[in-house]
Amino acid sequence: MQLCRMQKKVNIAIFASGAGSNAEKIIQHFENNPAIQVKLVVSNKKEAGVLTIAAAYQIPTLMIQRSLFNETDDYIHLLKEAQIDLIILAGFLWKVPSNLVAAFQGRIINIHPALLPKFGGKGMYGHFVHEAVIESGDTESGISIHLVDDHYDHGRTLFQATCLVEAGDDADKLAGKIHQLEHAHFSEVIEQYIIEHPELFSNGSFL
Ligand code: GRF
Repeated sequence: MQLCRMQKKVNIAIFASGAGSNAEKIIQHFENNPAIQVKLVVSNKKEAGVLTIAAAYQIPTLMIQRSLFNETDDYIHLLKEAQIDLIILAGFLWKVPSNLVAAFQGRIINIHPALLPKFGGKGMYGHFVHEAVIESGDTESGISIHLVDDHYDHGRTLFQATCLVEAGDDADKLAGKIHQLEHAHFSEVIEQYIIEHPELFSNGSFL
C-alpha cells in the first residue's frame, strides 16, 4: 500500500503496568517512522520499569489514579488534548472503563499472553496465565493481539501466534517463550492495523 504523508502523525499512547519490554520494542519500531509515533506512556504504577524506558527515549509519561480513571472523563480529555489516536495496552493491569472504550472505538489494542478465548478474563494476567496453561496440560500456548471492548480479553482478535509447551516448562520458561513471540509480532501487527484502517485514523497520515 502506498503511504502518503499528511500534516499529522498517528499518535500512540502505550499503557503499561510492568517492566515494559513490549513498550520498548514498540517505541524502537516506530522511532524513525515518518507517519506513526509513540507520543505518551501511561502507567498506574510509580515503580513500573516502563517509566524508566520512557525516560530513556524521552517520551512523556502520565501517572494515572484509579478513581479518576474509572469515574471521570478526565483522562479522555487529556488523551484527546495530546491528540492520541491509538491506545496500546502492553501489560496494563486495570480494566479499561467503558467511557474510554467508547471514546476510542476500535482504537484500543491489547496483547494477552495466551491463546484467547482460553486463559483469559479477570485475574488472568502474568504468571497466573502461564501457570494455568501448564496445569491444564495443553501442549501449545501463544499470544493474542485483540481489540478492546467492555469485557476482559474479549474484543475481536487481530492476530495469534503459538509456541510449544514442553515437558519441564515452568511459568518462567513459558513466559520467556511468550515474550519472544510478543516482541517479534506486536509492533508489526499495530502498524498493519493502522495502515489497513485509514477510516479510523482520518486525521492521520494515510490516504
Ligand atoms: C506481557 O507478557 C503481556 O502479554 C502481559 O504482560 C506482559 C508484559 O510484559 N499482559 P512487559 O512489561 O512488556 O515486559
